[in-house]
Amino acid sequence: MIGRLNHVAIAVPDLEKATALYRDTLGAKVSAPVPEPDHGVTVVFVELPNTKIELLHPLGEKSPIQGFLDKNPAGGIHHVCYEVEDIIAARDQLKAKGARVLGDGEPKIGAHKKPVLFLHPKDFVGTLVELEQI
Ligand code: CO
Repeated sequence: MIGRLNHVAIAVPDLEKATALYRDTLGAKVSAPVPEPDHGVTVVFVELPNTKIELLHPLGEKSPIQGFLDKNPAGGIHHVCYEVEDIIAARDQLKAKGARVLGDGEPKIGAHKKPVLFLHPKDFVGTLVELEQI
């Protein structure tokens, strides 16, 4: 069902430092910071030959990654995103197998303007999983 790894999202307490680490130490191509107020994050996209890394920093009062950073003050992997061809079909198959879909279970338009869903980390070996329809 799942296809390519679309991105790995890393929550970071200091976006400038994390960007410099990926750009200067690891030698990766990084974007300028992109504010995503609808998603409560500012994102720096790290372009790798085969996938992307997204450096996420809280934006605004009720950022969905603030709780994660409170628990992981040094930052850490927040989620992985896999591509699916049909997000409704994927959701229905996963629900039938007992997986929990976060929120109201309906796809939302994600940071890449495509429909996304999140799956409960307790059902996926401790990892928050995002599905994105491509
Ligand atoms: Co994501």
